[in-house]
Amino acid sequence: MKKTILSGSTVTGDLTLGNYIGAINNWTKLQDEYDCLYFLADLHALTVQQDPKVLKERTYSFLAQYVALGLDPQKNIIFAQSHVHQHTELSWILTCLTPMGNLNRMTQFKEKSEKHSKNINAGLFTYPTLMAADILLYQADKVPVGEDQKQHIELCRDLVTYFSNRYGEGILKMPEPFIAKMGARIMSLQDPSKKMSKSDENEKNFIAVIEDAKKIEKKIKSATTDSDTVIKYDLQNKPGLANLLTIYSVLSGKSYETLEKDYEGKMYGHLKVDLANLVVETLAPVKAKYDDLMKNRDYLDQLFKIGADKASQRAQVTLDKVYTAVGLVPRQ
Ligand code: TRP
Repeated sequence: MKKTILSGSTVTGDLTLGNYIGAINNWTKLQDEYDCLYFLADLHALTVQQDPKVLKERTYSFLAQYVALGLDPQKNIIFAQSHVHQHTELSWILTCLTPMGNLNRMTQFKEKSEKHSKNINAGLFTYPTLMAADILLYQADKVPVGEDQKQHIELCRDLVTYFSNRYGEGILKMPEPFIAKMGARIMSLQDPSKKMSKSDENEKNFIAVIEDAKKIEKKIKSATTDSDTVIKYDLQNKPGLANLLTIYSVLSGKSYETLEKDYEGKMYGHLKVDLANLVVETLAPVKAKYDDLMKNRDYLDQLFKIGADKASQRAQVTLDKVYTAVGLVPRQ
């Protein structure tokens, strides 16, 4: 039996070059070795205020971006969280098992409530119990997440323990965080000390997978570098340049040494122009496939339906066990 991997992505922003690099390195391998589920966390997106039209459009757009990036809908179960009602149902059971104190400790809640101080809603607070439900419904073994989500996975693991102590072992599986070997960490273009993130407020910090060529060129040209002139990979002293060289190296397959030689005696501007061309060329087929998919809503709806059907079948098995264990009378 293959182990199960599950990951979700909140439907905000757009996928970035960092996601692209993570994706091409991981998905094709993972989808053969594991039973993989990926979902679009549209319900999680509602914890901050969303324009309904934008949310809907973005949910289609995310599906199209994932497929355009090479996530195979035949080999993976891809679905929208809101299409599988079992997520919110299990979430309620878990909410009733979650001490307020555990949620109070969540750093993401603290950060987000500072950032959205006019909209500190209860959903923002219970966000991690919905996330735990997402994971536990599918008996996931491994959950690929970034650093910022590790605390939520810890809470999810605590909930498995609380649940098992109270209602019995073996109903919910204990998941592990999974730090995929990405090969490369792609950093923000303006602030190379932090990761390139799709939800960054400053657009200049990231390159979206579906960005147009002009914008890509602009963003790379304005990426932060140091005031030195030698093109050399030096993460400590030249983190901005190092980030550009990492992107260059991953996309071209050339080592840092080769790139350093190629650019001996040349200026940073040179490297940036070449890198911009490389990024544009690399993303062009993704963008073309994306544009195609977005024109074909019927096909996207069909993918949503297939994903939702497969996912809910599996989710219901777990939910039935949980409802029975907690003493709810089965519906006749
Ligand atoms: N909270 C995650 C994020 O913002 C998205 C997410 C929701 C998720 N549910 C999940 C990730 C379950 C992994 C597993 O990145």
